[in-house]
Amino acid sequence: MSKKVRVAVLISGNGTNLQALIDACIAPNYPAEIVLVISNKANTKGIERARKAGITTRVVDHTNYSSREEFDTELSKILSNSQCTLVCLAGFMRILSESFVNKWPNSILNIHPSLLPSFPGTKTHERALEAGVKVSGCTLHFVTAELDAGPIIGQAAVPVLDNDTPKTLANRVLKEEHKLYALGLELVANKILQNKKIALNSEKSTVSKSLLNF
Ligand code: GRF
Repeated sequence: MSKKVRVAVLISGNGTNLQALIDACIAPNYPAEIVLVISNKANTKGIERARKAGITTRVVDHTNYSSREEFDTELSKILSNSQCTLVCLAGFMRILSESFVNKWPNSILNIHPSLLPSFPGTKTHERALEAGVKVSGCTLHFVTAELDAGPIIGQAAVPVLDNDTPKTLANRVLKEEHKLYALGLELVANKILQNKKIALNSEKSTVSKSLLNF
């Protein structure tokens, strides 16, 4: 395959989801390539993983910016310069401002460790266990201005066991996140490649509707 969709990945920490995407991108027929990894924290394992894979990295420390808007503007500038078509949030622990999200319509993907719309936000596994649910899982979705509420691309479910702790449940869900993210990115990237128009920013919004109808 000659053409691949250019993807930037935003991380904050360990980067196991990033690793899953790096591994998926190795396959010659995988329709996406990671052109940039940005972390809002220095010295993360995720940055190390990206460097090891020969991917360009940037650390944009949010504490160096006086406001969320200022940080997001810088982020958007770097992403535009990388000429990426998609932005994958992978354990990125920052809420993105409405103006940032609106600049990248239907182009930002996020993996969340619950079956949305249940348990948006943080401490998902703790809350799932407190609620006594018997099934949990993860959701890959497009990012909109509303937190963890954008159109769902895919979900994977896991059982909740009687003796689960937040940690054991998180580990079970995380394994599914890795598979779901690689598969979901493949679906979205293929859709973009099939519809060449979407590569042009100005035409994104007209084409994006079809993206949601897998
Ligand atoms: C994952 O469960 C992700 O969904 C959540 O943070 C966790 C860390 O993932 N938002 P990673 O190992 O940094 O990819």
